[in-house]
Amino acid sequence: MSGLDLVIFGATGDLSARKLFPALCQLDAAGLLPDDLRIVAVARQEHTPEAFHDELRVRMAKAKRQSISDSAWQKFVQRLTYLSADFSTPEAFRGLQGRLSDTRISLFYLATPPSLFATICEQLSADKCLSGPCRIVLEKPIGESLTTSREVNETLARFFEERDIYRIDHYLGKETVQNLLVLRFANRFINSQWDQSCIDHVQITVAEQVGIEGRWAYYDGVGQLRDMVQNHLMQLLCLVAMEPPNSLEAESIRDEKVKIVKALRPIDAVTVKDHVVRGQYSQGVIDGQSVPGYFDEDGCETQGSDTETFIAIKAHVDNWRWSGVPFYLRTGKRMPDKVTEIIIQYKALPHHIFGEGESAEPNRLIIRLQPNEGIEMTMVSKRQSLRDKLSLQTHTLNFDFREDGDIDRIPDAYERLFLDAINGDPSLFVGREEIEESWRWCDQLIAACEDCGLKVNAYQAGSWGPSKSELLIDRDGRSWNV
Ligand code: BG6
Repeated sequence: MSGLDLVIFGATGDLSARKLFPALCQLDAAGLLPDDLRIVAVARQEHTPEAFHDELRVRMAKAKRQSISDSAWQKFVQRLTYLSADFSTPEAFRGLQGRLSDTRISLFYLATPPSLFATICEQLSADKCLSGPCRIVLEKPIGESLTTSREVNETLARFFEERDIYRIDHYLGKETVQNLLVLRFANRFINSQWDQSCIDHVQITVAEQVGIEGRWAYYDGVGQLRDMVQNHLMQLLCLVAMEPPNSLEAESIRDEKVKIVKALRPIDAVTVKDHVVRGQYSQGVIDGQSVPGYFDEDGCETQGSDTETFIAIKAHVDNWRWSGVPFYLRTGKRMPDKVTEIIIQYKALPHHIFGEGESAEPNRLIIRLQPNEGIEMTMVSKRQSLRDKLSLQTHTLNFDFREDGDIDRIPDAYERLFLDAINGDPSLFVGREEIEESWRWCDQLIAACEDCGLKVNAYQAGSWGPSKSELLIDRDGRSWNV
């Protein structure tokens, strides 16, 4: 098989201008795209290819992605054609069929609302665009519940083999998230200390400064649990908790992740009050700038909905390795900083030999996923002194990924994911069972919140969420890292 045609649906959408085309341009400029790769941008609007190119460049510049030189852009647009198609009309993709070939791979990328997934697959099939070898890449959300995610997956299965379905969770494309696998499975001393005998608890925080970024119509009624926990935090939890896979094959990694999702203890109406805190931001100040409350965001249509923009969860993985080790998950919008980090808090020493009052702080491993990507480990050492023979101090070993390697920037997640989809490597994409099992757990949690009327607590934008989220961890004698 020679050559690949990448077909991007939703090519005039926000994601395309902010992430997809900038990633492709970067890959092209770095010489990483196959020479014979062709890209067809598909959207409803009528455009000539040239008008599409011009508009795209302006929108990419506005989105403030890495700048691209004129020569690199000219090279890139040689690959890029445009097709106007109204997805809902019969024979919408006739024009596309003529641009594909049975002797080349077709890679369909659906950057459209999920409500169009089924229509697009049906139209592609009806217009004979699926007769050659093909793969499909989908953006989240894959459904909004177990039932609806199954519907989406059933539809996909009618047209594509599971091995040709690439479900994106862009967190898996982040360099530091991949590094988590390497950290765990390429360092013997870390892996041998990675269980309930050594680890006291795990924290996963994904905090954002942004609000809902003009996406009211999508976000309201969805909230932070469905938007962030069901996918991104769940993936991070799986990568921290899973057993070593026997290889880097997609199936092998997915199998281990699914076991973790299935081992998550269900949170029900009895336990939800002690395990979940929901919040919603009110007006506040971030970095010295006043920011609006949730109901004053652009596009707000409904006052008074109880959509959570913050959630903290105390979760448990019921298996041998993690018995008794809580996983505290926390994610919110309009927080004081953008921080994605995983904290592995080790247990205190079983016996102290350095005397009363010595601060032999338990070790803490901090995996900073963004920004300031890197790993920190707190270690205890002797203070250099003749006066105090054995005075202890805590040091931090700091491994800063930005100072490492032969590249001048950390690549965007979409660059990695495009490369892998083009090369036919699905290991950083999410399998059907993982998604469905994750929805099963989240559905139960959502039902528990509804059954016991767990309301959202207001928090000021620019704070770390409702005070109850501090209590969630404080009452176990622990505290959030930030
Ligand atoms: C998306 C969510 O999946 O991830 C957004 O829909 C969120 O609400 C975004 O802002 C966060 O991604 P990142 O890469 O900026 O952490």
